[in-house]
Amino acid sequence: MTLLLTPDELLTTTRAVRKRLDFERPVSRALIGECIEVALQAPNGSNMQLWRWVVVDDRNTIEKLAGLYNEAIEEYSKLYDSGELGERARQDPGFDRMTESVMHLAQNLHRSPALLVPCIAGRMETQDIFTQASLWGSVIPAIWSFMLALRSRGLGSAWTTVHLHREKEAATLLGIPYPHYTQAGLFPVAYTLGTEFKRARRRPAADVIHWNRW
Ligand SMILES: Cc1cc2nc3c(=O)[nH]c(=O)nc-3n(C[C@H](O)[C@H](O)[C@H](O)COP(=O)(O)O)c2cc1C
Repeated sequence: MTLLLTPDELLTTTRAVRKRLDFERPVSRALIGECIEVALQAPNGSNMQLWRWVVVDDRNTIEKLAGLYNEAIEEYSKLYDSGELGERARQDPGFDRMTESVMHLAQNLHRSPALLVPCIAGRMETQDIFTQASLWGSVIPAIWSFMLALRSRGLGSAWTTVHLHREKEAATLLGIPYPHYTQAGLFPVAYTLGTEFKRARRRPAADVIHWNRW
């Protein structure tokens, strides 16, 4: 299935989908591979293509990875609740709804047809800011392209990073060479329940643009 969306509709309606993921409907490897092929057209530093894409569709491994995600979310919630980040997030009128949605995904992540863990070569924490920006910039555009490719085919995902509180354990589980690769996040892959999604509530561009000078 290809949704008939204009480029702007695709870009403005690709949401973090948590409550509307269809956990019952299988997703073929061919379809995930097709979306990754699209993703690999993204820009990346010196075209070195330092990315790797770990796709998990083994039920047992999905359950274990979802277990790590849930451990991490419990730990992170405590940090978040007491920290400045949580304080700022709570000021958003949509905060309670988002929290409920985050918890729904956490509770159902183990039911995902597949989970994707994109990786980039190198350990981020040992690099200077130029190298970090170059490495993140060499995988994040591709992940976003993957999410757009899913959306245009009637599937969805949610960008998640919380499992990185258990990155080492996830590396061990998935056989990722932790000293040489950094995981960028964890992405459920599923068909969406319905294909209508709205534009997000965001601050207007005029509030965040600085013309010529900050
Ligand atoms: C860097 C990053 C990390 C995120 N981490 C998580 C996460 O760990 N768990 C989760 O449920 N959502 C996570 N999200 C999803 C955001 O909460 C979501 O994008 C935001 O609420 C806006 O939703 P929208 O894009 O549908 O408007 C993350 C998003 C980004 C970009």
